Amino acid sequence: MAAKVGHMPADEAMRGIERRFMYSPLKHLMQRAYEVPSLLRLARRHGVTISSGRVLDAGCGAGFGLETIAHTLHPAELHGCDIDPSAVQRARTRVPEAIVSLEDVTSMNYPPDTFDAIFMFGVLHHVPRWQQAVSELERILTPGGTLLLDDHPKRSVDLMERILRIPHPLESRFRWEELTNAIGDAGLSVVASELHLAGHFGYVVCTKPDHGSVSSTP
Ligand SMILES: C[S@@+](CC[C@H](N)C(=O)[O-])C[C@H]1O[C@@H](n2cnc3c(N)ncnc32)[C@H](O)[C@@H]1O
Repeated sequence: MAAKVGHMPADEAMRGIERRFMYSPLKHLMQRAYEVPSLLRLARRHGVTISSGRVLDAGCGAGFGLETIAHTLHPAELHGCDIDPSAVQRARTRVPEAIVSLEDVTSMNYPPDTFDAIFMFGVLHHVPRWQQAVSELERILTPGGTLLLDDHPKRSVDLMERILRIPHPLESRFRWEELTNAIGDAGLSVVASELHLAGHFGYVVCTKPDHGSVSSTP
């Protein structure tokens, strides 16, 4: 039985032109040359060091991001997950050293405080319960850990539908400010947030506060 994304089966949530693009060499190149370096640069510019401990790519698709993370960060343990079984299979083949699981980002099987760093490339605009996904990311991030995320806000998703006829759930169309607010509401600190391409694509770097490391003065 196919996993479901809200009211849509997972394989329908990513279809047609978008699926072909996701598995294409162009997407591979963009991830390697643009998305991962941009997020890492943004983090560095704001003094955030990314741990090379246990790292997750949530909604890893074909595994292009996993591959780039493996080559760039050399994490001690690299994980990926996706709701689409065919994506999981591709990612496992592409990056054999990664542990890739079938997971829905709104309810993941990882224990709390598991990952030192989580990347998420272009996933939330597919997830009707995207706020719940943000809470899940907070839950599985270690205190002091970093979430690095990029995505298309509503104006871009609306345009994709109008021009390219690519459908997305209405509930997963958020304005950028709604996303950064939801990240804050989930208990993460937004360290840096940037919109590019005339507001059609954005990056966020956030950290999970480490209350244990705050020394209280008597
Ligand atoms: C636009 S693709 C991006 C894939 C990959 N991150 C990349 O940048 O190439 C969106 C991915 O999110 C996955 N996805 C959508 N809803 C999901 C959910 N609820 N849980 C986990 N993965 C999901 C899709 O299966 C797809 O692989």
